[in-house]
Amino acid sequence: MQTLTIQLPGRSYNIGIGTEIVDSDLPQAVAASGTTHAVVVTNTTIHNLYPNRISQSLSGWQGRVDTCVLPDGEGYKNLETLNRIYDFLMDVQANRKTLLIAFGGGVIGDMAGFASATFMRGIPFLQVPTTLLADVDSSVGGKTAVNHPHGKNTIGAFKQPVHVCMDLAFLRTLPPREFLAGYFELAKHGFVHDAKLFETIQAGPLVNAEYDYRANEAESREFWEATILRSCGVKGKVVEQDETETGLRATLNFGHTLGHLIETHAGYGAYLHGEAVGTGMLFAAYLSRKWEHLQERDWSRIRDFLVPRLTPIVLPALNTKSFQTLILHDKKAEGAGVDFILLHKLGAGFIQKATSVETLWPVFQEFVAEFPEVCQVV
Ligand SMILES: NC(=O)c1ccc[n+]([C@@H]2O[C@H](COP(=O)([O-])OP(=O)(O)OC[C@H]3O[C@@H](n4cnc5c(N)ncnc54)[C@H](O)[C@@H]3O)[C@@H](O)[C@H]2O)c1
Ligand SMILES: [Zn+2]
Repeated sequence: MQTLTIQLPGRSYNIGIGTEIVDSDLPQAVAASGTTHAVVVTNTTIHNLYPNRISQSLSGWQGRVDTCVLPDGEGYKNLETLNRIYDFLMDVQANRKTLLIAFGGGVIGDMAGFASATFMRGIPFLQVPTTLLADVDSSVGGKTAVNHPHGKNTIGAFKQPVHVCMDLAFLRTLPPREFLAGYFELAKHGFVHDAKLFETIQAGPLVNAEYDYRANEAESREFWEATILRSCGVKGKVVEQDETETGLRATLNFGHTLGHLIETHAGYGAYLHGEAVGTGMLFAAYLSRKWEHLQERDWSRIRDFLVPRLTPIVLPALNTKSFQTLILHDKKAEGAGVDFILLHKLGAGFIQKATSVETLWPVFQEFVAEFPEVCQVV
């Protein structure tokens, strides 16, 4: 197992990364937290695949474990489902020392994290991510949220976990489509902050919509452990410098302005978050080239990497007005403009403050015309 420490004043924590580590790493972290009560938050899919996996791994621990099972899906990442967590915590008489354990992907992590940030003004929280996306992105950095019908992740809080137990053995059951979605967020860290990481990914196993982690595990396990560790390191460094996104951290939103528009406009759950971000990154790189920040060579490397892997997106009708409304509802919007993340070069993202949405609309139309296999508006 490898350990990465995220250093934040008074809130530092470790991320344990490895394969089949949950039975050793988790009990240790839970014991170190000093609690006597843990509540596992998970969903029906994970609960069926891994029934009582967390309570089993904590069987040698003296404390009590309760498990709250939520319905599965981005469509449930809302205040109503969040309320079910609060109800459950009340039912099991949780107190301020109760440790909330998120066992699942980004949706569970974001919801359980927000519940832990708000229940009794904050209770401790631990993450056991089970998707590639949660490994490389959502379990690191302390952003938690639920969606509002008109805006993705609009209700949330910053809440750092006390520990992250990243056991890659859970990836064995992850559907290929979900794996690919996480792979886009992994590539994002390369595009925006670490060209070498991008090169490593390109030279690694060929990941596409058919890639099966389990079938390839024997020969690629070391690659994934090292690559996920590196990706967490990239994100961790950014979070250490700008925990609450006053600047630098916003670069990690590369691809997310259009990505969030796709998720909201197509309806939560129609496309996976990572898929929407993949298309959003192609658009952001296209804009970077169009506005002459990015050289042709880097643009074509990014395009050639993304296009064959992207899920074709079909969006309901859009016009200047609805495009603008959707973009400005995005929480990164400021005034009539939006902080748009562009690239200077591969591995170097920057924030273009107050980018006017009027200037984005015609480029989006050109983009859709140029890449009909990637994105269509009907
Ligand atoms: N907090 C952050 O910093 C951050 C960063 C990126 C994304 N996110 C959020 O994360 C969410 C997306 O996360 P996600 O891609 O993990 O989606 P998800 O949590 O919906 O999980 C994807 C699907 O895979 C299933 N699943 C999970 N683990 C599995 C396993 N091991 N085997 C089989 N099936 C499994 C889930 O039940 C679900 O159906 C979005 O809501 C996004 O906004 C948050
Ligand atoms: Zn994301």
